Amino acid sequence: MVRERVNNRDFHDHYIVPVPAEKEFLPLSGLYPLSRPLEVDIGCGRGRFLLARAQVQPDRNFLGIDRCLLRLRKIDRKAVALGFLNIRLVQDDALRLLPQLPAESVAVFYVFFPDPWPKRRHHSRRLVSPLFMDLIFRALAPDGVIHICTDHDDYYSAILHHWRPDARFRECEPFFPTEAEETDFSLIFRAQGKTANRCSFQKNQHC
Ligand SMILES: C[S@@+](CC[C@H](N)C(=O)[O-])C[C@H]1O[C@@H](n2cnc3c(N)ncnc32)[C@H](O)[C@@H]1O
Repeated sequence: MVRERVNNRDFHDHYIVPVPAEKEFLPLSGLYPLSRPLEVDIGCGRGRFLLARAQVQPDRNFLGIDRCLLRLRKIDRKAVALGFLNIRLVQDDALRLLPQLPAESVAVFYVFFPDPWPKRRHHSRRLVSPLFMDLIFRALAPDGVIHICTDHDDYYSAILHHWRPDARFRECEPFFPTEAEETDFSLIFRAQGKTANRCSFQKNQHC
């Protein structure tokens, strides 16, 4: 389900960048002061991970994508207060924005706790789908990696079912965040005694 695209930025927004016009690419080279490998957090939520990661990896550029402008504004204010220069944010549906990232431009994607849509009739709304895989493959740099985690067992099985046999990727070591990097949802689920399933896939160069 792709919602109406909006461009609600206002003058208070520092690091929230406009969605590109139709058929144009996000102008990555003009977004950041320095050209660095790009890491993208899809569905970054309130940005606990994004902010922590951008702080410990100043030699990388970070892009947070989320549909929720209020959440992005909170990240924006924190990033400004902390003086980060390597974070940018886009309010958009990931399925709309991913085709507008330049091909092979992303070193790392993170997808943490995507909405599980547990009812069978809603499975088609899940973000991590075969279409999503195609978009990720195009945008990933050679040897680029995607890290996924979910607390939802059925969603996790569906993800493995699609990614493991796909020759365009190879499974690699899962990513475990430090305590400071745990996402807001990760903290909520951990407090409930739940554990997250984590998997990672690297782009195969020869594909
Ligand atoms: C369950 S929350 C997880 C947030 C964060 N990753 C975390 O672990 O705390 C899912 C987030 O993904 C965003 N989201 C869901 N579908 C999306 C889509 N198609 N494109 C962009 N963001 C999406 C929601 O707005 C929400 O902030």
